[in-house]
Amino acid sequence: MKVAVIGTGYVGLTTGVCLAYVGHEVHCLDVDQTKVDALRAGKIPIFEPFLAELMADSSERLNFTTSYEEAIPGAEVVFIAVGTPSQADGQPDLKYLRSASQSLGRSLEAPFTVVVNKSTVPIGSGNWVGALIRESQKAAGRSSDFAVASNPEFLREGSAIADSLYPERIVIGSDNDRALELLYTLYRPVIDQSFSAPAFCPRQEGFGAVALVSTDLASAELIKYAANAFLATKISFINEIGLLAGRVGADIQHIARGIGLDSRIGNRFLNAGLGWGGSCFGKDTAALSATAKEYGLGMGIVEAARQVNFGMRERVIDRLLETLKIIKGRSITVLGLAFKPNTDDLRDAPAIDIIRRLRDRGVIVTAHDPIAMDRFRIEHPDLAEVLTETPEEAIRDSDAVVLATEWSEYRELDWAALASTVRQRNLLDTRWALDADSLRKAGWNLLRLP
Ligand SMILES: NC(=O)c1ccc[n+]([C@@H]2O[C@H](COP(=O)([O-])OP(=O)(O)OC[C@H]3O[C@@H](n4cnc5c(N)ncnc54)[C@H](O)[C@@H]3O)[C@@H](O)[C@H]2O)c1
Repeated sequence: MKVAVIGTGYVGLTTGVCLAYVGHEVHCLDVDQTKVDALRAGKIPIFEPFLAELMADSSERLNFTTSYEEAIPGAEVVFIAVGTPSQADGQPDLKYLRSASQSLGRSLEAPFTVVVNKSTVPIGSGNWVGALIRESQKAAGRSSDFAVASNPEFLREGSAIADSLYPERIVIGSDNDRALELLYTLYRPVIDQSFSAPAFCPRQEGFGAVALVSTDLASAELIKYAANAFLATKISFINEIGLLAGRVGADIQHIARGIGLDSRIGNRFLNAGLGWGGSCFGKDTAALSATAKEYGLGMGIVEAARQVNFGMRERVIDRLLETLKIIKGRSITVLGLAFKPNTDDLRDAPAIDIIRRLRDRGVIVTAHDPIAMDRFRIEHPDLAEVLTETPEEAIRDSDAVVLATEWSEYRELDWAALASTVRQRNLLDTRWALDADSLRKAGWNLLRLP
């Protein structure tokens, strides 16, 4: 099928590349000329494992452009995958969605097109996108038949390719049957798993047909928010229990295992520690609450999950104060900047929050990340001076080390040797990533969260 994807960020680029890989003709469109130039030259502007390899394998069916006139006419399916960042009141900023809808409305020209919201957008956005397209079609003196659908994205950065080629489910929502049929046809190779798996990202043995949830527009939109709010709540729940466990002398790791083995609960997303960050959970839980408010509803559980989560960042400062008593003027090292390993995404990364809180309290901070430092220099130039080229350099002469992102590189450090390079051997492993016995043997005072 002929497909256009508007927005070549983490979601749009992965979607475009995967759809090309399974056999579709894909135009990827972005307003960012630098990004498009890089993509045309075969360079990936983000860090995402296997994306470069898959893009190279699919290059004959992939095209990158900044031109709506080039990408949209003739497309049977147009995905909108632009950013929807949070505003101060929690509502997502829909200016990119508005602009993309208007531009695509001016260029639509096919017997029938499905316009698919892949961006995470508030309930009702599908109708709004439809209205915007109709308005701009009218203004441009064009008319072509289209329907709007929602196809929320569930990929996780760091495993985006596997999540897209081998998803646990695909959700499509529309109030138009023809749109749903076209989306079913588009996803058929993924649903049936009829494509040959790339050698670098193989299909797990026994992985079969993918579940398809086909629903109305509003339900599909709400599924995405409900999924993220649930996962965010699960993490905050274990952190809340962890706070109590710390007081009563119980072991949160054992508690998580003890409850997670109950299949009604499940053991994933039960990792106590620094909590969630990233571009989605914070933004989407805020948006869900803001939408509910419009309908006179409170989202008490979701609000509590947010409160517990953001409290964990201050908890890092508390743990350091408990240990060092005075942190003003001390040297503290933060290891890991990205909001999780295997991505360079720094949006709402807890590490950045922690670095700012520490500096506000007069701490001399050093920091390192194996992948995200270039992006950090661009997005946080005021903090660039904290960076060091190696983790060893960051740790030298430190009064405390805070492991904020559990990159495997940090597990593999020679912690025994590092112990003799610091001023004080305090190590706050906020992710429970390091081996406690060997660290203690090496003389580290190992601290954990909550
Ligand atoms: N990142 C994730 O893990 C993830 C997962 C699921 C859902 N989502 C949702 O997907 C959406 C996109 O997220 P992302 O992380 O890929 O964002 P991103 O910021 O990485 O990418 C958005 C891209 O859209 C481009 N863009 C903006 N306005 C445009 C326009 N008018 N025309 C063409 N291109 C335009 C930007 O230049 C940018 O390259 C968001 O709504 C997000 O909530 C993200």
